[in-house]
Amino acid sequence: MSDLNLIEFHASSTPALSGSARVPGDKSISHRSIMMGSIAEGTTEVEGFLEGEDALATMNAFRALGVNIEGPDNGKVKVHGVGMHGLKAPRQVLDCGNSGTSMRLMSGLLAGQDFDCMLTGDSSLGKRPMKRVIDPLLLMGARIESQEGGRPPLHIHGRTSLKAIDYVLPMASAQVKSCVLLAGLYAEGTTTVTEPAVTRDHTERMLRGFGVEVVTDGATASVKGGQSLKATKIDVPSDISSAAFFMVAASIAPDADITLKHVGLNPTRTGVIDILKLMGANIELSNHAEVGGEPVADVRVRSAALKGIEIPESLVPLAIDEFPVLFVAAANATGRTVLTGAEELRVKESDRIAVMAHGLQKCGIDAEPTEDGMIIQGLGQVDGLRYKATSIESQGDHRIAMSFSVAAIRAEGTMVIHGAQTVDTSFPGFVALANSLGMKVQSVRKG
Ligand code: S3P
Repeated sequence: MSDLNLIEFHASSTPALSGSARVPGDKSISHRSIMMGSIAEGTTEVEGFLEGEDALATMNAFRALGVNIEGPDNGKVKVHGVGMHGLKAPRQVLDCGNSGTSMRLMSGLLAGQDFDCMLTGDSSLGKRPMKRVIDPLLLMGARIESQEGGRPPLHIHGRTSLKAIDYVLPMASAQVKSCVLLAGLYAEGTTTVTEPAVTRDHTERMLRGFGVEVVTDGATASVKGGQSLKATKIDVPSDISSAAFFMVAASIAPDADITLKHVGLNPTRTGVIDILKLMGANIELSNHAEVGGEPVADVRVRSAALKGIEIPESLVPLAIDEFPVLFVAAANATGRTVLTGAEELRVKESDRIAVMAHGLQKCGIDAEPTEDGMIIQGLGQVDGLRYKATSIESQGDHRIAMSFSVAAIRAEGTMVIHGAQTVDTSFPGFVALANSLGMKVQSVRKG
């Protein structure tokens, strides 16, 4: 999938963006709603579910594990939970597609079952490190086989009794934390995870929504095994990671005033707003509310003269998925932007440091990749267009494709983005929504 060019985006410059839009549901929360709804007692009703390929891969996997799931129908899903011990051995390999979240969280949940299963994925996922979840699960007594270097596919052997661990994560990863906590539900004793920096806490929040006691203290979270989940209602907010593309688009367009509605503003996810504000962005929040334990608000963004900054390392885990498009913001800012402490970007759907630096350089931007970040010399406030359009390979990474669609706003010529079908993993309807706000992106089917 990642090497194919089924869809190309042709994106070009635009001076003005306006209007309001609601981007699709949060990916992290959508995955978790299916996983937790499946092992809960009773029927969980979900609204605002993200109908993107990644979350659908999780849904299909749980159907293969014997869970009756209705929908998605316009974002509505009903998960008829089977309880903690009601999942059934799947007849087929569970295909996680492009989704690291599916594979890593499901590994934890499936390590505690009384059957074996196999987890696989596409060629991008096939290259991603799974040792980070295998290591703690082995410590808990799980039996897992992987390919060389801890790569997928994973063979998870059931019928093992898991024991609780006290685990200090070697990297700031919500996926690893969540994997261990989900396995902890099936373990004897209390499982504790401590992370080197706070990462997204949707698992902890949602487990509580399902009636599970989760104890948190700073960067530590604990869960006692043997608790059961009670079905609940989940209203999925719009994904701040999808909204981020338009936050940057509106900031760099010469004449923009847009509002993004009902955006999830969980404080473990708002690094992109903090970073853009440090760069001088004009962002205003209104209509604050709380849905299902998650804060939301409308986000108004207007054009601004961005300036380069040294990005505080403390914000890195809180904006980890937004750096591809933040690099585009940096390219359009006045002066130098320096990112450090972000080596995790090298093991996302693509090596986002290498792929973004290469693409920006092709546009004529001075972008120097470093081991753990990037140094970008922004082109700043010039009238008209700032750099040249080029051709980009998405490398099986949705956020690369969307970031260069945003970069096109200030490019001379047409940005041709190959392999853009990958955008459907997280943001179905991206092109229509982008165009409704005034961006110029065309989706061209190839072959
Ligand atoms: C996610 C956690 C992050 C993020 C990913 C989704 C999650 O990954 O990059 O898109 O839903 O827990 P890491 O936890 O590996 O940083």
